[in-house]
Amino acid sequence: MLIAGNWKMYKGPAETAAFCRALRDQELDGVDVVVCPPYVSLATAVELLAGTEIGVAAQNVHWDGEGPYTGEVSASMLRELGVYGAIVGHSERRQYFGETDETVAKRARAALAAGLFVIACVGETEDERARDETETVLRRQVGALGDPDENLVIAYEPVWAIGTGKTATPELAQEAHALIKSLLDVPVLYGGSVKPDNAAELLAQPGVDGALVGGASLDLDSFTAICRAATR
Ligand code: PGA
Repeated sequence: MLIAGNWKMYKGPAETAAFCRALRDQELDGVDVVVCPPYVSLATAVELLAGTEIGVAAQNVHWDGEGPYTGEVSASMLRELGVYGAIVGHSERRQYFGETDETVAKRARAALAAGLFVIACVGETEDERARDETETVLRRQVGALGDPDENLVIAYEPVWAIGTGKTATPELAQEAHALIKSLLDVPVLYGGSVKPDNAAELLAQPGVDGALVGGASLDLDSFTAICRAATR
């Protein structure tokens, strides 16, 4: 089981330091734990979690090694910092920053080639689900990612469940995860309003290999409660 905390645009270096100091004192055996701070806090997280089993990943990564791409960061730069992975294709990137299946795939493939672990996000919007297009959307988004890789995992994040408090039912998550696994044989995390009180039943589904947690990963107690639910 993998539990990854996507901090989004929360926690600068000072808050990151406090969180990581507290996190490294927790007993979290039997679960892989990753935190994904904003770029400016990555170095702090890497430094404070060095020597622990907890991984540090970025929230995005560019496909080129370097170049005239204002605001972007490359995989080799992340590697230089000691960062071990990156999220790509989060729905907030797709919705607000123009990411497409093509740019997401380019980011994913370049990051994998550079030796990063990649969490690639897919998921349908509320409208797409209402129009019964979930399967079509997932086939398109997963298909664009290319071949399986030992460093690739997918996060199924139904857009309507992100930050809304609405969670997919365990059955609905299982159905989507099974479809995704049939398309690409990699672990699949569930994301979208995962909280301490719903984590166990979601993680109990056979197709659910972990969780990508947003809001509930910002608080140490709720994040570690979700990590512990994954060990059961
Ligand atoms: P949420 O976010 O847990 O706050 O819904 C999940 C995500 O966006 O990765």
